Amino acid sequence: MNRKPMATPLTQNITPHREPPDLKQYAQAGGYQGLQRAIKTLTPQEVLQEVKESNLRGRGGAGFPTGLKWSFVPRGDDAPRPKYLIANADEMEPGTFKDRLLMEGDPHQLLEGMILASYAIQAEVAYIFLRAEYWLAAQRLKKAIAEAYQVNYLGKNLLGSTFSLELHLHTSAGRYICGEETALLNALEGKRAIPRAKPPYPQVSGLWGQPTVVNNVETLCNVPHIIARGAAWYQNLSRSEDGGTKIYGASGRVKHPGAWELPMGTPIREILEEHAGGMKDGFQLRGFLPGGASTDFLTEEHLEVPMDYDSVQAAGSRLGTGSLIILDDRTCPVDMVRNLEHFFAQESCGWCTPCRDGLPWVEKILLGIEQGQGQPEDLEYLMMHTRLLGPGHTFCAHAPGAMEPLQSALKYFKTDFEQHIHQQRCPFK
Ligand SMILES: Cc1cc2nc3c(=O)[nH]c(=O)nc-3n(C[C@H](O)[C@H](O)[C@H](O)COP(=O)(O)O)c2cc1C
Ligand code: SF4
Repeated sequence: MNRKPMATPLTQNITPHREPPDLKQYAQAGGYQGLQRAIKTLTPQEVLQEVKESNLRGRGGAGFPTGLKWSFVPRGDDAPRPKYLIANADEMEPGTFKDRLLMEGDPHQLLEGMILASYAIQAEVAYIFLRAEYWLAAQRLKKAIAEAYQVNYLGKNLLGSTFSLELHLHTSAGRYICGEETALLNALEGKRAIPRAKPPYPQVSGLWGQPTVVNNVETLCNVPHIIARGAAWYQNLSRSEDGGTKIYGASGRVKHPGAWELPMGTPIREILEEHAGGMKDGFQLRGFLPGGASTDFLTEEHLEVPMDYDSVQAAGSRLGTGSLIILDDRTCPVDMVRNLEHFFAQESCGWCTPCRDGLPWVEKILLGIEQGQGQPEDLEYLMMHTRLLGPGHTFCAHAPGAMEPLQSALKYFKTDFEQHIHQQRCPFK
């Protein structure tokens, strides 16, 4: 992991395989200074403004500007109460494990970010919606929450102010759809985890119909640093328009799979070659999903693309969670996509027909091609499904996300699909 102290605010306290800092150690390393500054010297509106100016964009996948999202929450004396802040820690995107790293490695950083976000929107109650499998993160967060209550960083009248905050840890039932923010709200209310229609957006009518902000764990972990050191400092960490650093990951046949905190906008080649160590001996790069399983493949021609929201989008994909999944020359792209679509089909919440029925069809066609029973018209059927399940045809972004690796595989690896069909077998086996 990159260890330049000021350039890696999110991971500066994290040492793999070591206990995370407790409250005292976190504070000794500069932690809770953002909270002290905010509660004692800044109004909620000033905290919000600082986050707006930092150009922090949400790290949960969609990249929505964080300060702008907070500004949609009703303010003032006549605003509905209570208001809620939720840390989305469901993290079930295949290939993505950055939030786990942050929660296990430095739980107080998330708590401080949540307290500051709650202060900015004047939320009275905050939840961490945690993936059930993250039991170690749960243990460490529980301990950190208890410590924060002890010193009145949580509870009534924080640090002698008029602001009070209760914070709860909630372990999820463990479904991919629970990460979608409105399905998360239903799950937290004890209902079936299906997405809600938007509008109304959660900022206006969220948990139990009250104003609610849902933010990703990595997003919230940036906030203490922005408030402690200022928006300009934060913006300068970046190599692009989007502020700050980003935790990038790489998995697949690279020499050193892992995650690294780097300036936002670090070129893909640098991440792959300098940090992931390049391809394993004997393997060549064929393509990669830049932002987790629900993003479009890019190929070698895109290696110079900076990993920021707009640049990756201009290249035809999405930054997503910033977690690269590598396809090498000895892995069958048809089988890789089949495997992904199997996951997406299993994880459909079943609420709308195109996704519920379409994804199993896609998986079945891909399985047929992979097993040597594909027909030439199958490629047309697959293309048709990428349209039928694409944006605007389903209730939430799950199915369109599932179509991204498929539609781009049909574009970049079409000859592999054709070979399977003509040879009636998988050429990689
Ligand atoms: C199917 C699906 C799964 C999602 N899973 C997650 C998740 O596990 N964690 C997360 O932060 N956002 C996830 N999101 C995005 C959230 O809906 C939401 O945009 C995000 O939590 C907002 O936080 P941010 O503004 O800080 O990025 C998912 C979206 C979809 C459509
Ligand atoms: S797109 Fe899929 S996951 Fe989303 S609401 Fe429809 S059935 Fe559920």
